Amino acid sequence: MTFEPKKKLRIIVLVHQDLVPPDSLDELSDKDKLEVKTEYDVITTLKKMGHEVYPIGLYNQLNVIGNALMEHKPHIAFNLLEEFHGYPLYDQHVVSYLELMKQAYTGCNPRGLTLAHDKALTKMILAYHRLQVPNFAVFPINRKVRRPKRLKFPLLVKSISEEGSVGIAQASLVHDDEKLTQRVEFIHRQNKTAAIAEQYIKGREIYVGLIGNQNIQTYAPWELVMEKLPEGSENIATLKVKWDPAYQERVGLATRAAGLTPEQHKTLERLSKRIYRYLFLSGYARLDYRMTEEGQFYLLEANPNPQIARDEDFADSAAHSGVPYDQLLQKIITVGLNYQGAGQVT
Ligand SMILES: Nc1ncnc2c1ncn2[C@@H]1O[C@H](COP(=O)(O)OP(=O)(O)O)[C@@H](O)[C@H]1O
Ligand SMILES: [Mg+2]
Repeated sequence: MTFEPKKKLRIIVLVHQDLVPPDSLDELSDKDKLEVKTEYDVITTLKKMGHEVYPIGLYNQLNVIGNALMEHKPHIAFNLLEEFHGYPLYDQHVVSYLELMKQAYTGCNPRGLTLAHDKALTKMILAYHRLQVPNFAVFPINRKVRRPKRLKFPLLVKSISEEGSVGIAQASLVHDDEKLTQRVEFIHRQNKTAAIAEQYIKGREIYVGLIGNQNIQTYAPWELVMEKLPEGSENIATLKVKWDPAYQERVGLATRAAGLTPEQHKTLERLSKRIYRYLFLSGYARLDYRMTEEGQFYLLEANPNPQIARDEDFADSAAHSGVPYDQLLQKIITVGLNYQGAGQVT
């Protein structure tokens, strides 16, 4: 049964112009289906719930949004953008534009997006609040790679701002200076961003979904496990682990509710809400953690506006916590409508 909201809303859905989904996915290849799945799931579900829904395809023209605001006078803009003008960090500027237009929107505010997109800045803020974070160093493009003495191997090398494990493989884990330099240069070349090398935190891979502005709720902590990981490999969520179905099968990839003790669960929930506030997040987000054998949680990164396709981690953990997909989307909208604007986040 589909959840029926009391009020039908006019909603524009902001998507990349290549990801405006067709009415049905039947004709698409598996790969193309995967590409537009989030957009398709959100748009079809909102329509089914009775909302008036207008998908808006965007590449680099803000006036397309401006025109849509004038034409449709939406109650809310459902933001599914992950980049603008081909650049992932520009999504925060699109949200700034919505704020300037005094347009209600779903997901995170510009300040939260800016802070969380930078994996070094995120950790600096948490360290200020005396939370334990992996030790790290940043290696900008065109600067000689020199490891600070305090930073000990093994290190995990990744892009400072890239998402979706782009640039992450088993080779991201390095044990000496030569390999560190090679991998940093690889990130510079391939990702075209600064690299960050972090103390490698051995442990379980755990994600926590959160939703809200001042009043925050958490969903069931979710764990990524690889049941058939080859001998000598680490449980790193590499590009292949995230996106290659054949490889996922081979390593026995599964995501499921993390069986934590009630105390661990409580600690993680409390920690997650604090981090959400420290980073000025709003809307909804997923926090990626490592949990050590001793039960310490280390934040690896914060993901504002995470993937919300049906049957993906965020929606699955919400469903596990008793919030089915259509209600989750409705809640994301309600939280967006209640958001008070940049001046009042703190
Ligand atoms: N410091 C670290 N210690 C251990 N594993 C890490 C560390 N940093 C990243 N990883 C591994 O790499 C994966 C991707 O890193 P993450 O920072 O979450 O980047 P992305 O934005 O691409 O998801 C993590 O899910 C984890 O498996
Ligand atoms: Mg991650």
